Amino acid sequence: MPAKMLGLVSSCCCLMVMWLAVAAQQNTLRPPQIIKPERPDTLYYTQGSRVVIECKADGFPTPTYKWYNVSNLSTGEMSLVQPVVRFMSFDSTSGDLIFDNFLKNFEGMYMCVATSVSDTQQGRREAANFSPVLNVLAMRVTNFLNVGQPDKTHSGPEYSYMKIECSDKGDVVGESIAYGWYLDKSSDGGSSQRQIGTDNGRIYIDVEGNLHISYLNISDSTADRGSYFCGIGLTELNLIRLGNGNKLTVSPVNNPVAVAPKRAYSNSGVRVQLYRKAVLECVFDGYDPRPPHLPQISWQDSSYRDIVPGGRYQISADGRRLEINNVQEEDEGDYHCMASNGAGASPKEAVTLDVTSPPIWNEGGQPADMTRPNGRNVTFNCNARSALGEPEPRTPIWFINGKRTGPHLPTTKIQISGDKKQLKVLSVNKENDIMCVQCVVSNDVGTTLGRGCLTVILPIDITYQPKLRQVITYGQSVDLTVRATTDPSAGKLQYEWYFRNATYSDAPPFVYYNPTTMTAFINTSTLTEEEYKEIGGVYRRRIWHENDEAWVDIEVELEDKPAAAVVSSAGFDMWIIGLIIGIIFLIIVIIIIIFIICRKQQEGDYNVDKKETGAGLDPEKELQQKGFDDYSRPDFRDYGDYEYPDRKPRGDLEYDDVPIGGDEDSLQEYGDDESTYFNEDGSFIGVYQQNNKPKPTHATESTI
Ligand SMILES: *[C@@H]1O[C@H](CO)[C@@H](O)[C@H](O)[C@H]1NC(C)=O
Ligand SMILES: *[C@@H]1O[C@H](CO)[C@@H](O)[C@H](O)[C@H]1NC(C)=O
Ligand SMILES: *[C@@H]1O[C@H](CO)[C@@H](O)[C@H](O)[C@H]1NC(C)=O
Ligand SMILES: *[C@@H]1O[C@H](CO)[C@@H](O)[C@H](O)[C@H]1NC(C)=O
Ligand SMILES: *[C@@H]1O[C@H](CO)[C@@H](O)[C@H](O)[C@H]1NC(C)=O
Ligand SMILES: *[C@@H]1O[C@H](CO)[C@@H](O)[C@H](O)[C@H]1NC(C)=O
Repeated sequence: MPAKMLGLVSSCCCLMVMWLAVAAQQNTLRPPQIIKPERPDTLYYTQGSRVVIECKADGFPTPTYKWYNVSNLSTGEMSLVQPVVRFMSFDSTSGDLIFDNFLKNFEGMYMCVATSVSDTQQGRREAANFSPVLNVLAMRVTNFLNVGQPDKTHSGPEYSYMKIECSDKGDVVGESIAYGWYLDKSSDGGSSQRQIGTDNGRIYIDVEGNLHISYLNISDSTADRGSYFCGIGLTELNLIRLGNGNKLTVSPVNNPVAVAPKRAYSNSGVRVQLYRKAVLECVFDGYDPRPPHLPQISWQDSSYRDIVPGGRYQISADGRRLEINNVQEEDEGDYHCMASNGAGASPKEAVTLDVTSPPIWNEGGQPADMTRPNGRNVTFNCNARSALGEPEPRTPIWFINGKRTGPHLPTTKIQISGDKKQLKVLSVNKENDIMCVQCVVSNDVGTTLGRGCLTVILPIDITYQPKLRQVITYGQSVDLTVRATTDPSAGKLQYEWYFRNATYSDAPPFVYYNPTTMTAFINTSTLTEEEYKEIGGVYRRRIWHENDEAWVDIEVELEDKPAAAVVSSAGFDMWIIGLIIGIIFLIIVIIIIIFIICRKQQEGDYNVDKKETGAGLDPEKELQQKGFDDYSRPDFRDYGDYEYPDRKPRGDLEYDDVPIGGDEDSLQEYGDDESTYFNEDGSFIGVYQQNNKPKPTHATESTI
């Protein structure tokens, strides 16, 4: 029992700890990302129905919602949806916009704003995001039957063209509007209303609902009974409304002759929004007594190339309709329709397509969601243009967390460019600067909304790096281990090596790498001499994730194997230096010998030791030290302003050839100031001045 209890308690504790850890990690504000609605849209609803429009966002803490009427957003105006008792309200928790009884009065552009609020020790932080804008409309076809108005009358000879307009249409709002024509001969007695078909293409209804009869038949005549009616159907409402009646009288014609086609109707000046569907129409008259009686219609593009159906182009079976799906800006221009029959051909007639659009984002011009490390400057763009050949958009309007920007914002934090196409957040900070920005840009066609949220993370932190410059000899190992951490929300860190212009995702040559511990080293004692020569250089470690990167450069220098190319020329250089030094040394020795001999002859014995001891120096000790240096590994001693090697590595030919070390030692004993001596030579001063750090290869490089 007690053991069971203990287990229960400990698992409870464990859960608590886990929960606390999760809570602590997630306790930072996460800006709301709108999930619903996904995109700007036009929604049609039935009047009198209950309508619920959802808004959903993901964020931390859980966002709350508000709905705005943004019918005037192009001016930056947003008016909070005011609850209208029993008719219109929103739920700030669920995000629903509710119309209990949807009416035409409630039509408008609506937008939801989701806000996450977090109270921290530093104060209240919030981030608010806009949803896409919804155009909410009431489906309707108003009654367009004008009671009391007499039927319109139309008349024409047989085989001639006839157009009957669908006139006096009222408000027609809906997604799937369909036009039809009906012939009602109910005045015959009994119901004989029937929908008119195409009669093998002889009859056509255009996009505006008008009725076209390519050539009249005596049987089209309503005579003194019945009428033609235009009908507007709305499938969703299961409704067809009929307009006023039309009487048609057809006078008979005997022995018709063929008539060449002429364009009778076209919907010229088609204005279509980018990416929608364009419908271009041409209706021709002209009767041919020989079948198929109707003229053949064909289409050409703006450069008079024949259009063949396929791809984005569709041509209706009767040829009167050219449809272009997913209209592009380049589609703008004059299309051409023409028709021919046995009597001849029509001229090529132009149908102009005007492609238009609300502001279109320029490349990279749209504000985007960004994740940036602390301390960076972040720029949001709002750079849009109009469709080709249309007036430029108006100046963008900016919002931060749903509130208009203005002079109240500190310019030390927020800067907006003169043309308002850029908003800069300076030196972002994880505590204070998690935010969403919005921009609105409009032109004569419409308004485009841009949105972007900023998430600030902790930058990549290098927790371990070795000495950045490692001078080694054969047998020593090279530490190339680099470890780093980053913000837990930033995802997994990626590592890569760059060495001698090549990239290695695992490890460069001869590097032992343990991906678990991140340990990386070169064990030079396992390398052949040839391999060993290859390991010198700069190892660049790149550490990155999607939103940040860091570099660590480790320079590895082989003290005992200077780069091969340099060695041979350096050997030659050293030889010449040695020769010069030797000659100078000889001259000085000769001078000194002469001098000593002269002094001896003049003053007798002269004791160097005594003199030096008197000056506080211990020549014996100095000699001992130098003797020790002879056998120690290369070492560097500070001689005032300059550092230079005391002793070259043993066993290296080029150094052995030249007894520099010996020379130096002897010189130091005789010269009061060694730099005076080197000044005479010139070259050595230059060399050692340049190289404050111990770097024997360089020392050999640049002499003479
Ligand atoms: C929309 O904004 C413009 C400019 O601010 C203003 O003149 C107009 O009256 C507004 N329209 C409505 C319906 O509020
Ligand atoms: C929405 O706002 C526009 C102008 O800003 C106004 O004309 C319209 O009546 C408003 N619609 C509703 C339902 O409040
Ligand atoms: C006219 O209509 C009648 C009856 O529908 C039909 O038989 C006749 O072929 C039509 N004439 C022409 C020229 O289409
Ligand atoms: C951020 O922008 C300010 C002002 O434009 C500039 O002075 C500063 O150097 C920038 N800081 C960084 C990290 O780019
Ligand atoms: C490194 O690569 C770049 C581009 O490929 C080249 O221009 C450069 O000369 C290379 N450097 C060396 C040292 O190979
Ligand atoms: C380097 O390799 C030698 C020979 O294989 C081995 O004895 C030595 O332990 C290695 N050194 C390291 C640091 O792994």
